[in-house]
Parts: sequence; C-alpha cells; structure tokens
Amino acid sequence: MQHPNYQELTDLQRKALDVAEEVLKNSYNPYSNFFVGAALFAEEGTIVSGTNFENAAYGSTICAERSATLRANAMGLRRFSGIAIIARGINFDTTEVTGPCGSCRQVLYELAQLSGTAFEVVLSTTKKDKIIIATIKELLPLGFGPLDLGIDIAKYQK
Ligand code: THU
Repeated sequence: MQHPNYQELTDLQRKALDVAEEVLKNSYNPYSNFFVGAALFAEEGTIVSGTNFENAAYGSTICAERSATLRANAMGLRRFSGIAIIARGINFDTTEVTGPCGSCRQVLYELAQLSGTAFEVVLSTTKKDKIIIATIKELLPLGFGPLDLGIDIAKYQK
C-alpha cells in the first residue's frame, strides 16, 4: 500500500482521479446524500467513469465502481490498470479515503483478472490531502475469480 501525495501520482492516475471528481456532480443519491465518483484507467489512456445510482429499494443501489465497470463493458472494454475513487458528503468533505464496498471489490477482482494486471485502486479524500494506492489483492486477499474456476479468460479479454 502506498500513501503518495497528489503530485506524486502518475499523469494517468491524476487524470483518472480528476475525472472521478468531475462525475461526482452526477451522483444520484437522494437517500444517502453521499457522492461517489470512480474512474477506470487503462495504460493507453482510456478512462471510463461511473457514479453511484441509488434506488428507493435501497439494496438495488449501484455503486460508482460497479457503474464504471458495467459502462466499460458496454463499451467493449475489459482491460484496465486500475480505478480511482473519490467521495464527498452533501455538506461535508471526506477526511479519510472511501474504500470500495465488498461487492465492488469482488467485481473489481473479476476485472483485474481479465485485465491481467495488479490493478491499482487509487483512493482519495475530497480535498486530495490523503491518497492511498492499494492493489485489488491487498483489498481482497485470497479473492475468488474466474481463474479459480479454470475459465480460459483469454476468450473474454477485450
Ligand atoms: N457507494 C459507492 O458508490 N461506492 C462505494 O464503494 C461505497 C458506497 C455508494 C452507495 C450509496 O449510494 C452510497 O455510497 C452510500 O452507501
């Protein structure tokens, strides 16, 4: 796990974090009033963002990370080197980074195996004064993915 400051991020990580911040304005969060933005980033510079979309049946809410992943898949993209995530409250900034929920970690683990990379998760407070970079394996030790089922993931990589 790394604790870089904003200036120490790579250009791509910084760009992804900025895109994740930009999409916060589109968060649909009438129930929690909590804004989450996520942006997947790929080595060649592709960035795909997502934000949380809540539901009156609370459990049907889609988190920002899964929203970005499904959007990427619909675009025909399944190969990323990581994701940037940033959050804020309706009237407060986060003072600690917001980590992905358990379901999102599981979905990102799938994407990481498809991507064939260590898959970096870049987490930032609203003001970018605390940043943590972790690999998906650090966030989901002993995770379960398509390779554990003997799936020939080459067939599904895009
Ligand atoms: N949320 C995310 O979008 N990603 C996370 O990793 C944590 C939680 C959203 C879901 C819900 O809309 C709000 O934050 C409060 O849980």
